[in-house]
Amino acid sequence: MPYTELVDILHNWYAASRRQALPWRAPPQHLNDPYHVWLSEIMLQQTTVKAVIPYFLKFTHAWPRIEDLAAAPLEDVLDNWAGLGYYARARNLHKCAQYVVANHGGRFPEAYDALLTLPGIGPYTAGAIATIAFGRPAPVMDGNIERIVARLFCIQEMLPAAKPIYRSHVEQIFANDIQHPGDIAQALMDIGATICTPTAPQCMLCPLRLHCCAADAGTMNTYPRKAAKAPVPEKHAYVYIVRNAHGQIAAERRAAKGLLGGMLGLPTSDWVTIDQPLPDLEPGEGEVAQVRHVFTHFALTLHIVAADAHPAPANVVWMTMSADTYKKFPTLFAKVIRLIA
Ligand code: ADE
Repeated sequence: MPYTELVDILHNWYAASRRQALPWRAPPQHLNDPYHVWLSEIMLQQTTVKAVIPYFLKFTHAWPRIEDLAAAPLEDVLDNWAGLGYYARARNLHKCAQYVVANHGGRFPEAYDALLTLPGIGPYTAGAIATIAFGRPAPVMDGNIERIVARLFCIQEMLPAAKPIYRSHVEQIFANDIQHPGDIAQALMDIGATICTPTAPQCMLCPLRLHCCAADAGTMNTYPRKAAKAPVPEKHAYVYIVRNAHGQIAAERRAAKGLLGGMLGLPTSDWVTIDQPLPDLEPGEGEVAQVRHVFTHFALTLHIVAADAHPAPANVVWMTMSADTYKKFPTLFAKVIRLIA
C-alpha cells in the first residue's frame, strides 16, 4: 500500500478520534507553541501522558515562557521534576532553555537539523518539534511508532539491528510533500499508546487494521522482534533516617553528575550488588522496613534504618516533614519517606 494512503487514513482518524484535551496539543491542522511542544516531548520520553499532565501544568504555570525557565535556578527545576524520573532530562531541559535564550533569542530553530544541535534534543525530539510546532516534514520515530511499523510491515529483523529498516519506512511516511506532519506524528503516538499497545493490541479499533500485515496474520504480539532482555542486577543499601531535635529529617543535595544527579536524596550507604554485605549498623540502629525501586539498569532495595545518632551528611538539608515532603524527592526516596512519615 502506498504511504500516502496510510497518511490519508491517519489524517481522518486524527480529526475524529485523537486523544482529547492534552494541554500541549493544538486542534488538528494547527501549530502549537514550540515551547509547549518541546517541554511536553521531553517530559513524555519513557513516561506516560497521564503521569506527564500534572507536571506539564506545574511547569507552564511556574515558568510561562522559555525565558522564565532559563532564568530559574537549576535546583528549582529539579525539585519540580521530582517523581518524573530520568533526571538528566531536567538538567538538559534547563541547559537547552538557557541555550535557546542565549543563542536564538528565545525562539526554537524550525529545521530538524538545527533542532538536533540543541542540548537534550535527539532525533525523536527534533522530529516531534519540527512536525508538531512548525509543520515541517521530518521523520518522527519513538518506541510506539517502531511497534506500529514493525506490525504494519511484519518486519522480521530483530531490534536494535532493525532500526534502520523501521526508519526507512518512517521516512517514507513523513515524506517531503506530507501535509500537516504534526497530526500524523501525533496520530501515530496516540494509536501506539492506546490501540497498538505492546500486549493485547485492540486491532478492531485501529484505522490501519486492513493494511496491517501482523493483524492480518494474527501475529501482533510477536512484533517488534527483539532479543530477550537479561534480568537487571539487584543492588542493596541502607538508607539512614536521621532526625534532629526538631523532628526534621536529614536530606542531602546529591552530586550534580550521575544517577539522580542534583536531586534531593536521603543519606545511604554505598549501593552494592547483593552478593556484597552491607556495612555494620551502629548500636541502637535497626532496620524498620525496606523498599525496592527498579532503575533502567539495576534494581535497588533500600533497607530503612532508624539512625538518629548517625552523622548527618556534610551537605545536610534538614527537611520539616509534611504530607507533601515526599514530592520533592525522586521516587526511590519518596517511597521511603511515605513509609516513615
Ligand atoms: N507521546 C509523546 N509525544 C506525544 C504527543 N505529542 N501526544 C501524545 N502522546 C505523546
